[in-house]
Amino acid sequence: MSFPTDRPAVWFVTGTSRGLGLELVRQVLARGDRVAATTRSSERLLAALGDGIDPSRLLPLTVDLRDEAAVGRAVQETTERWGGLDVVVNNAGYGFLAAVEETGDREVRDMLDVQVVGVWNVLRAALPVLREQRGGHIVNVSSILGLTAVPGWALYCAGKFALEGLSEALAAEVADFGVGVTVVEPGYFRTDFLTEDSLALPAETTAHYPAIRAMVRDHLKLQGGQLGDPVKGAAAIVGRVLAGEGPLRLLLGSDAHSYASAKVEALRANVEAAAGTAPATDFPAA
Ligand SMILES: NC(=O)c1ccc[n+]([C@@H]2O[C@H](COP(=O)([O-])OP(=O)(O)OC[C@H]3O[C@@H](n4cnc5c(N)ncnc54)[C@H](OP(=O)(O)O)[C@@H]3O)[C@@H](O)[C@H]2O)c1
Repeated sequence: MSFPTDRPAVWFVTGTSRGLGLELVRQVLARGDRVAATTRSSERLLAALGDGIDPSRLLPLTVDLRDEAAVGRAVQETTERWGGLDVVVNNAGYGFLAAVEETGDREVRDMLDVQVVGVWNVLRAALPVLREQRGGHIVNVSSILGLTAVPGWALYCAGKFALEGLSEALAAEVADFGVGVTVVEPGYFRTDFLTEDSLALPAETTAHYPAIRAMVRDHLKLQGGQLGDPVKGAAAIVGRVLAGEGPLRLLLGSDAHSYASAKVEALRANVEAAAGTAPATDFPAA
């Protein structure tokens, strides 16, 4: 893929008033690039960015990512303003901690609306632009929990596993158009993710999952002590993507690397154990 060398790159980033999204916006502006930054609150985004931002290179967009028409208008406003689109980062997301049976219908739909439907809305609007111009890169921020699952995180994992599946298929669909796809899989990063402002909890819990309640308490206490530095995380994404080196999966953090390695080993053992039994369900060869 080729990135513009004769003009600043144009970015479209979702979920930008806090955490990794905010840091991405800061870094792309510092490079001299242009960024359309979606958020539920442009006021919060502008306050977080502070003074000294060049308004000609920032397009703050208050968008409900679940609203297909609103997302379409946001992408159109971006391309009309800057004449193209180079990198799309689907970053918005939040955690939800509960046992499967404690997770309500509304909570499932809300999570998938943000992590799957919202991403799909962005992709449907942005892909025709990237395809026509025959270049660009899509970055979908997943999680190490999009590769491996742990108790109490089922809903979050369901959303991120879905995002991984869609990204893997998409990468193969758009490669011939010169469009790259990267799924980012961070471990624990020191953003607002584990604060009560971001993390969602179930409306009701039961007494049956004391280990999950303890896990929730431990995670709330982890805030401020996470291993991952969002400044380095954002720099890794920006650097790799603009260098044309965005891999399909970009693991961030040594914790993410350990979890991924354990998953691959378990999966390999599972696959090898099925080598003798899986073919038993085939029709006999004609
Ligand atoms: N930090 C970690 O440990 C970690 C680990 C693995 C993966 N991740 C992933 O990294 C991405 C960024 O998270 P972060 O760590 O930067 O957390 P964060 O500081 O809580 O920021 C999350 C961003 O996502 C947006 N967001 C949150 N809930 C939303 C909702 N219901 N609807 C729409 N947008 C929503 C927010 O955007 P606005 O408020 O501006 O709308 C916010 O800026 C997420 O996809 C997260 O799942 C984080």
